Amino acid sequence: MSGEGKVVCVTGASGYIASWLVKQLLRLGYTVKATVRDTNDPKKTEHLLALDGAKERLHFFEASLLEEGSFDFAVDGCDGVFHTASPVLLFSNVSQADVVDPALKGTLNVLRSCAKVPSISRVILTSSIAAVSFNGKPLTPDVTVDETWFSDPDFCEKSKLWYMLGKTLAEEAAWKFSEENRINMVAINPGMVIGPLLQPTLNASVKPVLNLVEGVKIPCETYRWVDVRDVAKAHILAFENPTACGRYCLVERVANHFGIFKILRRLYPDLNPPEEYTEEKASEPTYRVSKERAQKEKLYQCLKMEYFSWPVSCNIELKVETIVSLYIFYHLSVPLSRL
Ligand SMILES: NC(=O)c1ccc[n+]([C@@H]2O[C@H](COP(=O)([O-])OP(=O)(O)OC[C@H]3O[C@@H](n4cnc5c(N)ncnc54)[C@H](OP(=O)(O)O)[C@@H]3O)[C@@H](O)[C@H]2O)c1
Repeated sequence: MSGEGKVVCVTGASGYIASWLVKQLLRLGYTVKATVRDTNDPKKTEHLLALDGAKERLHFFEASLLEEGSFDFAVDGCDGVFHTASPVLLFSNVSQADVVDPALKGTLNVLRSCAKVPSISRVILTSSIAAVSFNGKPLTPDVTVDETWFSDPDFCEKSKLWYMLGKTLAEEAAWKFSEENRINMVAINPGMVIGPLLQPTLNASVKPVLNLVEGVKIPCETYRWVDVRDVAKAHILAFENPTACGRYCLVERVANHFGIFKILRRLYPDLNPPEEYTEEKASEPTYRVSKERAQKEKLYQCLKMEYFSWPVSCNIELKVETIVSLYIFYHLSVPLSRL
């Protein structure tokens, strides 16, 4: 097992992506120091404590992004740190301070703690495609977004895209700090993450799929989708692969909500289409996000899922699991026959 004898810290360990990351790390034999804001909240800890290996190798630490030095204990003695904690407030009406401060100040806070620990060989930063593609350039079907793209903070601010602004400023600051302090850092930039939930709470990126199933009216927006298990695995491979460096976009496909609905409906023909649904809209051509760097560094291939070469029919599986997870946790009003 690649992680045997190694100690890593996962910040925001009870979150959607982080829970999968902790699960995979424990399976690989790592000892995990997991930070949560409230160790007494069973919603944040129970699903992690139930994981294989948790009893022996999972340790909780309380830490808050806005508290200076809060992560010192958690990262002390670690071989690696996965910094995933950040508020994911994509759709709600939030203020700039709610999102930008914890993202930016929190990232620097975590890195400052890491800089004090010589045993840390690499920090993996969970950034986002939000820090890549929001620069005002039109995203037409001839465009391929790649790791050379950086979101423009001015554009994000003017457009009141606070989540995008926070992720962009946090990644920018993280690169600057890690270079100045000789921290070996790799950034993972996933698109909209979907797939089964481990945690008993609904996170922001899975909500649109739930809305589609429930028939809630949502705008036909285009997103960049990726499986949560691939995202977690890519974090670990980026830590373990000595040649990994820089940033990696992780996007399986770009599709609008109607495109996702079209896939869902192949499985559940009785699902009611959104009001304005049309086949043309569902199949609208769109831009692409490059997979080249991530594939070249084999951040995916070790999964043995060959995710990016899966035919469309296999991708359906991931939507099914999402719905099943949602059903189990939220007792949706979706008839069981549909699942
Ligand atoms: N989901 C996506 O589609 C997506 C896509 C690209 C990038 N990302 C990035 O991936 C990371 C995890 O996202 P997720 O979807 O897994 O989100 P999530 O389930 O909402 O988890 C976010 C985590 O951040 C922690 N957190 C938030 N504010 C905090 C604070 N002030 N102090 C300490 N911890 C705080 C939360 O801790 P508590 O449990 O204590 O509340 C939670 O564990 C984020 O950095 C996000 O920007 C997500």
